[in-house]
Amino acid sequence: MNITDQDLQFFVLALKNSSNYDLTEYSDKSLKRRLQKILADKNMDLNTLVGTIKTNKNFSEDVVKEITVNTTELFRDPQTWQTLKFRILPRFKNNKTINIWHAGCSTGQEVYSMLILLNEMGLYDKAKIFASDINTDVLDQAKKGIYKYRFNISYLDNFDKVIKQNPFNYEEFNEVPYEKYFDIDKSRDTLTMKKFLTEKPIFRKHDLVRDGNLFFAKFDLILCRNVIIYFNYTLQNKVFELFHSNLYPKGVLVLGMHETILGPHATKFEKLGQFYVKK
Ligand SMILES: C[S@@+](CC[C@H](N)C(=O)[O-])C[C@H]1O[C@@H](n2cnc3c(N)ncnc32)[C@H](O)[C@@H]1O
Repeated sequence: MNITDQDLQFFVLALKNSSNYDLTEYSDKSLKRRLQKILADKNMDLNTLVGTIKTNKNFSEDVVKEITVNTTELFRDPQTWQTLKFRILPRFKNNKTINIWHAGCSTGQEVYSMLILLNEMGLYDKAKIFASDINTDVLDQAKKGIYKYRFNISYLDNFDKVIKQNPFNYEEFNEVPYEKYFDIDKSRDTLTMKKFLTEKPIFRKHDLVRDGNLFFAKFDLILCRNVIIYFNYTLQNKVFELFHSNLYPKGVLVLGMHETILGPHATKFEKLGQFYVKK
């Protein structure tokens, strides 16, 4: 079924009126694609889907979970992590505490990447890690820290690039065993984060459309990568305002590789590639 603008509006309004979810300011293109997939997977037409949304709260919750794209990786985009390691995190090394918020953390690989890096840099104990997502299923997985091993074999390459190698000095190599941070069980096909890592972050359900800062803290670093790409310009600006007002001066916002601050907030940050330093 081809989703028209009217179909999309019909769906978004029904969801808004019968649940806590407001997708009005999500970008149309990706919403249309997701809606099309949901209809195909559930083998439903749009009227039936909207009818069920209106009468069944749990169904609405499920639909929103299927709308969100949850793709993520351990040390996703290793270059970003190398910049964090060599250029960004050292800025905070003399802080008493380092508050970090992962907004849109999905199944948690980004959070564990940060914890591993902080530990290697000797900054682990001063860090407070907050992580949130709109989707409670991915948060449950994030809290467990258990991932498929074979499907995610690239995690080990990313780990090597960020933790073992130095892109500025190819002769340097730190032999850090994977078992320091996670256990690999090939027969069960699992990669399980160590308990000391899973115990550290505070995970909370949080909707960037609706909720303010739920953590009662200000932040030195906010990572919101590959999330605003699904939002329209108005919602992006609203989210930038939320981040700007909850960062300490000189605090840093990290966006995804293909995301940029345009519009009124651009002048409030110094841009260093995908890293934005609050002026
Ligand atoms: C593609 S994942 C990004 C994960 C991770 N940050 C990364 O870059 O690898 C996008 C995440 O944003 C979450 N998300 C979408 N809309 C959201 C909203 N309104 N509030 C909070 N999280 C949202 C999704 O549930 C999903 O887990």
